Amino acid sequence: MNDYNHLPVMVNEIISFLLQKKDGSYIDLTAGLGGHLSAFSKELSKDAKLFGTDRDSAAIKKAQDKLADCPQQVQIAEAPYSTIDKILPQFSVSSFDGVLLDLGLSSLQIDDRSRGFSFKDDGPLDMRFDPQLSGRTAADLLNESSEKELADIFFTYGEERQARKIAKAIVMERQKSVMETTTQLKEIVNSVIFPPYQNKSLARIFQSIRISLNGELEELKAVLPKLVPLLSQAGRIAVLSYHSLEDRIVKRFFQQMKKGCICPPEFAVCVCGIEPSFKIITKKALTPSSEEIAVNPRSRSAKLRVAEKI
Ligand SMILES: C[S@@+](CC[C@H](N)C(=O)[O-])C[C@H]1O[C@@H](n2cnc3c(N)ncnc32)[C@H](O)[C@@H]1O
Repeated sequence: MNDYNHLPVMVNEIISFLLQKKDGSYIDLTAGLGGHLSAFSKELSKDAKLFGTDRDSAAIKKAQDKLADCPQQVQIAEAPYSTIDKILPQFSVSSFDGVLLDLGLSSLQIDDRSRGFSFKDDGPLDMRFDPQLSGRTAADLLNESSEKELADIFFTYGEERQARKIAKAIVMERQKSVMETTTQLKEIVNSVIFPPYQNKSLARIFQSIRISLNGELEELKAVLPKLVPLLSQAGRIAVLSYHSLEDRIVKRFFQQMKKGCICPPEFAVCVCGIEPSFKIITKKALTPSSEEIAVNPRSRSAKLRVAEKI
């Protein structure tokens, strides 16, 4: 893939909400191809510090290349973002003025057919974010899970209404041949879902397998509370999500941090003593402009939420 195919999503909005200090410390926990970090670099003074994490070693390499000429200090670490508290000692700071989470897949991953993320190309059913590590592939998941487990994955993580029908078709088909390729999966889905619904179902099925395999929602739920103590005073967190399951987790987390108190509603006075720790900056999730969607159709499902530590 050429770098110019990769356009960082809602980059202007993120710059204006996140970069409150020209010489601050900023991290993209989903560094990907370094698109956002590179745009941050152009806005910040040379005393600013830029950091990144990503689970995908191919992405780390791309991000490092892209950021090689930045005037600021840049450090990128290969790690799942939920381990940010453990890897922080590798970085030359103890807190951040801004944290970005740009969830989901990069165009590098979608466009590389050998990764098996897209139903538009034939490839192996892999779908791991960190293929260098051993671990279950999408093929393992599809070959080993029971019909009920598959249906639950498709329904829970893909919100696919025909989950049971598709799971049944997979289990019947895999008795004849082992599940190995994206084309095989596509053909099975298309055998039970009819036009014009096929592409939507395929997108939901591929998404659900990827989310389940990589524990994406668990990662998100684990990282959000860890970020609160890592933000500087008035530091901001921006999260770009691409489907409602992720957005719901972010929205609820921000609301809870704004509220603080976790006492049951029937308590007349607060006994937990937990103070609010966030101010919500984006009352409603922001979405890309029609101009951005026209130039970068992959941005169309993005939702941006920003909060500030108080
Ligand atoms: C949408 S891309 C980010 C693009 C990036 N902001 C840019 O401008 O180039 C999402 C990235 O997050 C990474 N990722 C997904 N889950 C992750 C996790 N749990 N920990 C670290 N990185 C993760 C993916 O490997 C992918 O490179």
